[in-house]
Amino acid sequence: MKSVIVLLGPPGSGKGTQGEKLSEELGYTRLSTGDMLREAVRNGTELGKKAKEYMDSGALVPNDLIIGLMKEKIAQAKGGVILDGFPRTVEQADALAEQLDVDLALNLDVADEELITRLTKRRSCPQCNAVYHLVYNPPKSEGVCDKCGSALYQRDDDKEETVTNRLKVYRENTMPLIAYYEKKGTLVTIPGVGSIDEIYSKVEKAVQ
Ligand code: AP5
Repeated sequence: MKSVIVLLGPPGSGKGTQGEKLSEELGYTRLSTGDMLREAVRNGTELGKKAKEYMDSGALVPNDLIIGLMKEKIAQAKGGVILDGFPRTVEQADALAEQLDVDLALNLDVADEELITRLTKRRSCPQCNAVYHLVYNPPKSEGVCDKCGSALYQRDDDKEETVTNRLKVYRENTMPLIAYYEKKGTLVTIPGVGSIDEIYSKVEKAVQ
């Protein structure tokens, strides 16, 4: 079983959705930089204050803020880890490689038009970070998280113009990691379209 898994893929490709299912099934620690940064923004920490402006525009938060944070979280994690949203630049990938070997880089491949539909209708839980979709994966009770009962919200960066910029930033900064991990022999690309369960069965095979 692969024990250090990196989830790659554009915004909205399903990294959070699949990563959460996988961490529940395998008992691995899921480390999501996006969730950590949003929590820091909500709590008004120094990191949150610095990160907010970048996140709101769909830009990446500077490498120096992210790398130190993730090094610490990875060092604290026990057992297998699923990295969701990190690394996102070659510099971050090199920093990660100094700390541990990645067993599997799982790349979820989804076309831009589908990503925009997914993100603009996404609803998120501020408490437990569960994600829903108004059409594809609605909560049982409208506006309420199935898992913890909190009121769902729409992320500030899920507005269409910000989504478009996030896709551009992804292509310029994060897409090169596909070739990076291919060269290392750890890349598996999965078409990220179809039902959440159909995709998950392919994810499960890739981690064996
Ligand atoms: P982050 O939170 O990591 O955002 P992201 O990578 O853009 O990814 P998303 O969370 O938007 O999408 P996802 O792939 O997890 O899809 P999801 O499962 O939710 O980062 C946010 C910001 O933080 C960045 O822009 C940046 O500023 C900063 N940041 C984070 N990490 C950083 C780093 N390392 N360096 C620098 N800056 C960093 O699914 C999306 C929707 O689709 C949901 O509604 C879901 O229900 C639905 N869905 C999922 N699967 C399916 C399916 N199969 N069919 C239909 N709908 C589906």
